[in-house]
Amino acid sequence: MKNGLSALIYPLKMTEFLDHFKNNGPFVIHHGPSELRVLRELPQVSSLKTLLESWNEHVQVHLPDLRDEASALDVPPSEAQKYFDQGMGLLFNDVNRFSPVLQNWLDEIRADLGISAQSYGRCLIYATPDGKGTAPHFDQNINFVLQIHGTKKWTLATNESVNNPMVRHTMGQPVDPEMISYLSKTMPEKMPEKTTTFDLRPGSLLFVPRGVWHSTEAHGDALALNFTFTAPAWADLFLAALRSRLLLSPEWRESALVAEKGKFEELLSTLIQDLPHWNAVDILEATES
Ligand SMILES: [Fe+2]
Repeated sequence: MKNGLSALIYPLKMTEFLDHFKNNGPFVIHHGPSELRVLRELPQVSSLKTLLESWNEHVQVHLPDLRDEASALDVPPSEAQKYFDQGMGLLFNDVNRFSPVLQNWLDEIRADLGISAQSYGRCLIYATPDGKGTAPHFDQNINFVLQIHGTKKWTLATNESVNNPMVRHTMGQPVDPEMISYLSKTMPEKMPEKTTTFDLRPGSLLFVPRGVWHSTEAHGDALALNFTFTAPAWADLFLAALRSRLLLSPEWRESALVAEKGKFEELLSTLIQDLPHWNAVDILEATES
């Protein structure tokens, strides 16, 4: 039996997937009833009621003002059903911690994607009441959504404002100050004219690339299992390696007395002399081992 990314995207071939992945191209695959049963029959996703009975941690409730995790409340599982019945979506975070099967799939998908071992991978379960969904936003994550129960309409649009965002953003909310520095265009106030819609039904697998705008609406109470990866950028790997290197030196570890510019110049010139000896293989050996 196939496992990992090739099973999720079957019958798409890995080379075809990489085309989508590298070009931020979303796609959907509607799996038949006999496919991905190992995931679809996990006790955690059998029903919202069963999940709430077995869940010992807080559940995130998405409040109706924004319908997004930017406006959320953490509640004990005993209270979560009440919010759901009032039309609010629920999020169960890091579900893989309680399921070796999910952890194993996460690890395999992460390796298949070829992203760094330092990536933060997690499984999320979203429970969405009939007629509700999430407000337009994009994530910095790479996301695979497996619809388990109910149907959900996803509306996606290309992000013309920022390529490779480092943080998520909900339309109409303040923009992260660091992200403002690398925006190509002002953020839109509403979803772009040109959108693509995907209607997910039980067994559908949607690939939501990093940075793509999306909003959702459930038809019938819906439950979906997500495999989500926050992968370090090249800049993150380089900075991690640079920090480790600099911290070997007591001079670089000194508390910075910012008036001593000459001292800082000296440190920078030793770094400049060191940099020509750096190479990608050594850095990746340090970050990926
Ligand atoms: Fe999202």
